[in-house]
Amino acid sequence: MNRINKPSPRILAALAAAALSLAGCEASAPKAEPPLAGAPIGGDFALTNSKGETVRWDDFAGKYRVVYFGYAFCPDVCPTDMSRVAQGLKALKASDPDKAAKIVPIFISVDPERDTPQVVGEFAAAFSPDIIGLTGTPEQIAVTAKAFKVGYGKGEAVAGGGYLVDHTRIVYLFGPDGEPLATLPADLGGDAVAAELDQWVS
Ligand code: NI
Repeated sequence: MNRINKPSPRILAALAAAALSLAGCEASAPKAEPPLAGAPIGGDFALTNSKGETVRWDDFAGKYRVVYFGYAFCPDVCPTDMSRVAQGLKALKASDPDKAAKIVPIFISVDPERDTPQVVGEFAAAFSPDIIGLTGTPEQIAVTAKAFKVGYGKGEAVAGGGYLVDHTRIVYLFGPDGEPLATLPADLGGDAVAAELDQWVS
């Protein structure tokens, strides 16, 4: 459920793509600028993994990072997006294992009340053993989501108990220095995710 949907990075990406298509008539043009190059997205965080260990953004230095914010109790969107991210990574692992080995997928909870380290870890592992599930205190999650330009908030109550969480639906790709590169088109399926990863990971 996503009332807070498709934020400006997508628009930035579309604008960047449009600009490139205008400039794209030169033969052997250099590799395109990543659509999110220079965007103020991301930043250091201190969160908790499934084992209860503190994990920081800088711990992933040298790795490309796929980052998604969601919640383990999400009935539809998060499981769909995570399965497509996992499919994309699996496809890249098959076609280019060296590239795939440079990527760390990270799932960050926007529902810290219910997503304990164990819950978020089990959710992530259901899609791939490679995905690192992170949660934190409500304050830590709020600071992290803000840095990553992700909105979220408690939504409707669910019949039988519980509640939905409205959240931004976006799959980010960051580079080895933590710089934002692109968004991944999970809405288009695993092959589209793999193709986008293949384009930006080197
Ligand atoms: Ni969701």
